[in-house]
Amino acid sequence: MIDQLTVDRIFAAADVVEVVREFVSLKKRGVNYIGLCPFHNEKTPSFTVSPAKGIYKCFGCGKGGNAVNFVMEHEQMSYVEALKYLAKKYNIEVEEKELTAEEIKQRTERDSLMIVTAWAQRYFTDNLHKHSEGKSVGLSYFRERGFRDDIIEKFQLGYGLEKRDALTVEAKKQGYKQEYLVKTGLSIARNDGSVFDRFYGRVIFPIHSMSGRVTAFGGRIMKTDAKAAKYLNSPESGIYHKSSVLYGIFFAKKAMTQQDKCFLVEGYTDVLSLHQAGIENVVASSGTALTPEQIRLIKRFTPNITVLYDGDPAGIKASLRGIDLILEEGLNVKVVLLPEGEDPDSFAKSHSATQVLTFIEENEADFINFKANLLLKDSQNDPVKRANLIRDIVKSISVISESITRSVYIRECTRILDIDESVLYAEVAKFRRARVEKVLGKSRGYVAQPQIKAKETPTLPSFVENVFCEEQEKEILYFLLKFGQKTFFEIPPSDDAEEELEPIQVAVGEHIISEILNDDLEFKNLVYKKLFDEYKQLMEQGKDIDERTFTDHHDYEISQLAVNLLTDQHRLSKIWSKHQAMPVDEVQLLHDFIPKAILVYKSKVIQMVMGVLHEELKNLNSKEQVEEVNQLLVRIMTINNLKNQISKELDRIVL
Ligand code: CTP
Ligand code: MN
Repeated sequence: MIDQLTVDRIFAAADVVEVVREFVSLKKRGVNYIGLCPFHNEKTPSFTVSPAKGIYKCFGCGKGGNAVNFVMEHEQMSYVEALKYLAKKYNIEVEEKELTAEEIKQRTERDSLMIVTAWAQRYFTDNLHKHSEGKSVGLSYFRERGFRDDIIEKFQLGYGLEKRDALTVEAKKQGYKQEYLVKTGLSIARNDGSVFDRFYGRVIFPIHSMSGRVTAFGGRIMKTDAKAAKYLNSPESGIYHKSSVLYGIFFAKKAMTQQDKCFLVEGYTDVLSLHQAGIENVVASSGTALTPEQIRLIKRFTPNITVLYDGDPAGIKASLRGIDLILEEGLNVKVVLLPEGEDPDSFAKSHSATQVLTFIEENEADFINFKANLLLKDSQNDPVKRANLIRDIVKSISVISESITRSVYIRECTRILDIDESVLYAEVAKFRRARVEKVLGKSRGYVAQPQIKAKETPTLPSFVENVFCEEQEKEILYFLLKFGQKTFFEIPPSDDAEEELEPIQVAVGEHIISEILNDDLEFKNLVYKKLFDEYKQLMEQGKDIDERTFTDHHDYEISQLAVNLLTDQHRLSKIWSKHQAMPVDEVQLLHDFIPKAILVYKSKVIQMVMGVLHEELKNLNSKEQVEEVNQLLVRIMTINNLKNQISKELDRIVL
């Protein structure tokens, strides 16, 4: 137990921004910081940290608290563990009282699993460096493979002795309970009551969590002729869920942020060798197929992933599998295939660091080029194969949720494959539509982005940062609340559909939400944003929504806002007054007002971005920072074009 004085010191020292930053990439916004919430999956940041208040709060999922709460929640630590973690971070000495038997019993199971795992890591590592067998077999194995001592130490590599129960016996001698040894998978209990080690006669790779705690192990056999599996891994346990762990992430975090890029490899030794070559922004999926959770871990640090796999058929297959998954999570993916027969480990060993980086630079292909090159080879003269290839690439493009990115890739695809752009657009739309239908089939939920060109307002480029346009935000919220559930338009079924399909009805709310999300825009007013996110969430869950949903909301801020919006006489009269004279078809009216509200919002965003860009331009030295100046000019041009486009559209809406 930690005494109160120390607890107070830890609380005083823990800076919430510093603590959260270890795990979440934060950007300063006014007096606060914002980032992508680590507790739920989101595309636009609603996770806010207030240094002044010493708290974090996610306006998407509602999680909030102080620095200690954050560590507890994020690292699944107990209160005491979190305090110790922070004490270590801030060099505060923790004087711990001897635990009473009762207190020991009270420790949660997770704690116990963590503790015995931490002990096992030290045990394996000690074997490697101090035990004669460990040194002569394990350490010499690593050295023969060319791993430097600093790498062996950094990754806390170890060795499991040949003796079949060496760890189990030692652990019990030290007072660790068999229950936890078995639950972590370190020991295996047989039906006859005997207990053995999982890892014996193997070199050990500890697997670290995001915060650097060991939660599992991988053990490699050293004999080449053995019938046993090359690698054995810890089983799933209360502290290890392999689908949400990436090997090496703790050691890669910093470099990932700095380089704004992550290399994804397959194996433990690939991570080690690249580190040894000075490339530290690297993680491994460790032999399992990549999962969405793993991709989201990377996403917290960088949106750019480069897959670095062997050039053999298995490596290619793994790369292809990963690509769509990465695209679907909204990240950018590139692929480097190493020469056949090489994996990153062997390649980094036989080449200098510069050679490795040069090779990557020269062979890095975006996913379209990668797929095209791969498939073009054997489909050159075969129209059926060629059609399949195009389908395949188009399918990948269609999973990308941001429309501007899709356009960029379609253009690229047009160039490489020499096909008409409009054909590709139509194909992509078909795939997207198929998915929309699938979603709608499940629940009358939220439609990602209906592919009806005429209904979409121009898309903003991704460098458009969000700015503050409270009045426009409010206007859009008003339409969302008041008319969100009304049908806005219908998507006719695609003509080549195999079965007879009903047209899809897209609600006003679906349309508004997809328009905003498509451009990665988010409301700046946090209460507005809260209402918007809540609406979106309910829609995604297929819930019935009406005005009462929000005016009766348990969150005081939301209910207040809903009440104010829905009772805003001024807003109402603005709409109806212009149409007093004629019989009003409400829906027809919406067809003018809603696109207008969205356009006005976007144009306001653009206006403010323009201001920022010009300001930036002023601060650049046009002689020395040519590159930057050019980039800015391109952006200004893009924005200008958009501005014109939006003005034109606005002119067309006669109100
Ligand atoms: N793997 C596993 N179980 C196996 C084989 C592989 O868990 N039986 C996982 C390991 O995480 C391994 C990764 O898949 O690191 C990649 O496998 P492989 O390329 O065969 O191993 P390498 O990492 O290249 O290991 P080495 O260089 O020691 O052969
Ligand atoms: Mn290897």
